[in-house]
Amino acid sequence: MIMKILGIETSCDETAAALIEYQEGRFRVLSNVVASQINLHAATGGVVPEVAARAHLENIIPVLKQALQVKKNKPPIGLDFIAVTIGPGLITSLRVGVETARLLAYSLQKPLIAVNHLEGHIYANWLDRPPKELLFPILCLIVSGGHTELVLMRKHLAYEVIGETRDDAAGEAFDKVAALLDLGYPGGPIISKLAEGGDQQAIDFPRPMIDSPNFDFSFAGLKTAVLYYLKKNHLTPAVKIADICASFEQAAVDVLVGKTIRAAKKYQVKTILLGGGVAANHRLREQFGQILTSQFPAISLSLPQLDYTTDNAAMIAAAGALYAQQKKFVPWSKIKADPNLTL
Ligand code: KG4
Ligand code: ZN
Repeated sequence: MIMKILGIETSCDETAAALIEYQEGRFRVLSNVVASQINLHAATGGVVPEVAARAHLENIIPVLKQALQVKKNKPPIGLDFIAVTIGPGLITSLRVGVETARLLAYSLQKPLIAVNHLEGHIYANWLDRPPKELLFPILCLIVSGGHTELVLMRKHLAYEVIGETRDDAAGEAFDKVAALLDLGYPGGPIISKLAEGGDQQAIDFPRPMIDSPNFDFSFAGLKTAVLYYLKKNHLTPAVKIADICASFEQAAVDVLVGKTIRAAKKYQVKTILLGGGVAANHRLREQFGQILTSQFPAISLSLPQLDYTTDNAAMIAAAGALYAQQKKFVPWSKIKADPNLTL
């Protein structure tokens, strides 16, 4: 059976809608529209919830129209299901997406599916690729602006969180270090670009919790180490920003890769999968690839396409397709945003 699923995502600062087609394990993206609010939040150096929610309200209908390729205001043809992010995220942002999905489901009489934003980041890996390529058990490293989690999956839609950050998320650390260096928002892509011209070994930043016996992370200390470094070494031509970026990035990558590989060995997984905005990081992708190829060739690596690493709605529709297959729907009268939703 072919299913057409509309995805809606408004958990933080991207207003997104996408249409995907699902058939026998294949997820084909028909449209993927993201209205970014980056310019709006760059001025404040971060997301102001009220500002984000107002922008979602303005963007949601144009984004939906474009994603659904609506002609002459007629309802989309062949749409089967509506999937929406219900959490985690900013409550005022989430509610724009959830209320829009509720109205659409009611007026078009289509089943509604509630998706966790983090499982969306995981299912970004199945978009536009041959079916059944990823083998279970899968270890997922979700690294975004709000989350750093290691999640074990033994089958579809079943999650066991085996580690998480105790303070800042990985992406948050990139953003905060970029703010310390006055580089702009969001920090990840800027730091990553500057790091290309720097020396990863120039400064020996700490690798917090790399040898701790659990699979938890901590990035606040790493950010503080950069702060102290900047206090002691005033930025002069001799202290190269590119070196700070490269050394910080390498410290963060070493911890993420080191702990993920250790967990992969313990749980004997067949696949390591990355998801979330930081999964766009070139150094992270490269280091995982190198270590797995040279030391663990039996474990395969799944990297989402770059377009699907940061927030988008195609990934929400992908998770929605699997819920639809299992007929797990939520009545339009019951769906509710939950800012603290866990996997
Ligand atoms: O998944 P995402 O779009 O939003 C959340 O769910 O949080 O992730 C955004 C985060 C930001 O912190 C951003 O700085 C980070 O992903 N990011 C990166 C890169 N591109 C985005 N971090 C490191 N390197 C990158 N290339
Ligand atoms: Zn996200």
